Amino acid sequence: MKAESVRFEKVTKRFGAVVAVNCFTLHIQPGEFMVLVGPSGCGKTTVLRMLAGLEDPTEGEIYIGERRVNEVSPRDRDVAMVFQNYALYPHMRVYDNIAFGLRLRELRGIVWQLTHWGEARAIRKRIDERVRQVAQMLEIESLLHRLPKELSGGQRQRVALARAIVRQPKAFLMDEPLSNLDAKLRDQTRAELKKLQERLGITTIYVTHDQKEAMTLGTRIAVMKDGVLQQVGTPDEVYFQPANTFVATFIGTPPMNLLQAQVVEQYGKPALRVGSATLPVLQAHAQVLQPRIGQTVLMGIRPQDIYTDRTAPPDALLSEPLHAVVDVIEPHGDRNDVHLLVNGATLIAQLSARVKASEGTTLPIRLHLEYLHLFDPTTGEAMRA
Ligand SMILES: Nc1ncnc2c1ncn2[C@@H]1O[C@H](COP(=O)(O)OP(=O)(O)OP(=O)(O)O)[C@@H](O)[C@H]1O
Ligand SMILES: [Mg+2]
Repeated sequence: MKAESVRFEKVTKRFGAVVAVNCFTLHIQPGEFMVLVGPSGCGKTTVLRMLAGLEDPTEGEIYIGERRVNEVSPRDRDVAMVFQNYALYPHMRVYDNIAFGLRLRELRGIVWQLTHWGEARAIRKRIDERVRQVAQMLEIESLLHRLPKELSGGQRQRVALARAIVRQPKAFLMDEPLSNLDAKLRDQTRAELKKLQERLGITTIYVTHDQKEAMTLGTRIAVMKDGVLQQVGTPDEVYFQPANTFVATFIGTPPMNLLQAQVVEQYGKPALRVGSATLPVLQAHAQVLQPRIGQTVLMGIRPQDIYTDRTAPPDALLSEPLHAVVDVIEPHGDRNDVHLLVNGATLIAQLSARVKASEGTTLPIRLHLEYLHLFDPTTGEAMRA
C-alpha cells in the first residue's frame, strides 16, 4: 500500500479562551515516523485529535495525501489511533478484538441475502488471514483465544497495536501508547514498534512528553510548547542545533546548562567572559558575537561537554579552567551528575565516576568550545551565523 503524506497548514484550535494549538504548520513525509513532543498541556493530543477528525480546527487546513480532510468524517479518513488507554473490548477474545473493525468495514454494505453467502464467506476468510498475519508479526498468535483480562499490560498493548495495524490505515496516530507499561517493557515495546513501523512503512505520528522516547523513535521530532511548534528536525538536529533555549533545555538529560556571559574583546576578537575567566570562541561564533561586544548573551553547554583536566580528550578544544564549587553529586554508576556553582549560577557536569570530587570542594572545569551554544538573552533564539 502506498504511504500518504500528512500536512497541517496554519492550524489553530481554540477552546473558548484557551489557544490549545496556535498556527501549527507541519509537513509529514509518506512513511515517516514523526514524534510530537512537549510538556503536558502543550497541545499534542489536540493535534492528533484534529487529524483523526475528533476535533474541528478553528482555523487552517489539514491534508492526508492530496485530500483536504477538514470536512471528512473520522470514519472516512482511514487513520488508526492508539491511545494511552487502549480500551480493548473486555468481553471479546483477542481474535475478535483484532477482527472487529475489519468486519465492520468489510461487511458493511453487504446485504444479508442468501445469494451473498459466498461473498461473505470469502470476506471472512480474508479477515482471518489478515488477523493471523498481524498476530504473527506481533507475536501474539498463542493469545488469540484469550480475553483481555487474561493478558499482561504489554500483551494488551500489542493487541491494541494489532487492532490498528490490521486495518492498514493511511496513517497511525499514537498518543503515549507505551506510558502504561513498566520501564523495561516500555523499552522493549518501543524497539519493536520502531522495527514494525519501518517494516510496514505507514506514516506514523506519535505523541509523547518523554524526550528520550522522542529521540529514539522519531525519524524527525516536532517540539511543541504552549500550542506553538518550536522546531522540527531529525533527533540530531534538535539535539545539536536547538532553535531556542526551550528546545535546548527540553531535549537531553540532564538539560543543557545556560550561563550568562559578557561579550568582550580579546586580542581584537570577541570572547566570552564568565566570572574571572575569558573564553575564546570559534570563528563562527565570533562572527555573531562581533556586533554584541559589551552586551550579555546566554551561553549553553551540555553536561556531557564539560571536562576536568583528567577527563579531557586530548584533541578537544577546551576553555581555560573555570572555578567551580561542587554542590551536589548524583551517582549514576559509571558517571556522576555533578552540580557545580560557577559564578553564581548552577551548572551540571556529567563526569566519569573516576573523577574523585567531594561536595564543598573546588573543581576546575573546562568547557568544550566547539559545543558552545549561543542564545539571545531576550528572545531565547539561537544565534547563528
Ligand atoms: N475539550 C477541551 N476543552 C477545553 N480545553 C481543552 C480541551 N482539550 C484540551 N484543552 C486544553 O488545550 C490545551 C492542550 O491540551 P492537550 O490535551 O492537547 O495537551 P497535551 O500536550 O496532549 O498534554 P498531555 O501531555 O498532558 O497529554 C490544554 O491547555 C488543555 O487544557
Ligand atoms: Mg495528551
